[in-house]
Amino acid sequence: MDYAGSIEKPIGIFDSGVGGLSVLRAIRIQLPFEDIIYFGDQEKVPYGSRSLLEVRQLSEGVVRFLLNEGVKLIVVACNTASAAALHYLREAFPFIPFVGMEPAVKPAAENTHTGKVGVLATPATFQGELYASVVERFAQGVVIFQETCPGLVGQIEAGKLNVQETRQILEEAPKPMIKQGIDTVVLGCTHYPFVIPMIEQIVGPNVRVIDPAPAIARQTMHLLERDQIAKPGPQSGRLTFFTSADPAALQKLLPELLGATDPVFGLQWIGNHLVRA
Ligand code: DGL
Repeated sequence: MDYAGSIEKPIGIFDSGVGGLSVLRAIRIQLPFEDIIYFGDQEKVPYGSRSLLEVRQLSEGVVRFLLNEGVKLIVVACNTASAAALHYLREAFPFIPFVGMEPAVKPAAENTHTGKVGVLATPATFQGELYASVVERFAQGVVIFQETCPGLVGQIEAGKLNVQETRQILEEAPKPMIKQGIDTVVLGCTHYPFVIPMIEQIVGPNVRVIDPAPAIARQTMHLLERDQIAKPGPQSGRLTFFTSADPAALQKLLPELLGATDPVFGLQWIGNHLVRA
């Protein structure tokens, strides 16, 4: 890769939908001068109930689109896509640096006092080898309790953050792990940080909630600096959003989720390729 020519290029970030915006938000704080292209695969959301093979194929299509847009680094801002595809993507596209998500079991295991940690994530994330390897490497001597949050991704996609139905899902999911005495809960899906205030209220003050986004932003900065492709200031970076569903709907959600009003463009899946709608 021509690193010297890459400084001005954008970072690519993708997720099945709006979840990756929680990662974009952290990257924006850490790297305010970078141009960012964000893609949410809202036609195919949720990824979490699809097979790992299908999620891998979708992720590859997204990566090809982002590469065509000339990105210099790709953040797979989706635990499910990282579980299904990160290893494959790094092998298939060795010329581009990837940052992926893995449930933050390591910091949780290092800091727990009760030795009991909860993880909330999608079914596909729990099925992937990445999760198994994270637990094996970092959770020695710690008991891990895991739960999915059925319906939660859909609520967040619909912008229903502060409604009773969302609260109900969030009251149900962590109940068993709270009963077991966890003192830390890891958010293993990038959609969930958008309801952190509600989660904190429900789990109570004795349970620490871990959002991995700031660590992902630091890792992104580290790779850009390592490869000497970080964009210097002072001009703040441009944000461009793409969705495979209705751009107007995402445009409406952006101010609430991100405080952003930047342009949103539509893409369409044709076979395994994403093209401008
Ligand atoms: N935001 C995605 C994640 O981090 C998953 C949501 C979905 O199921 O599509 O796992």
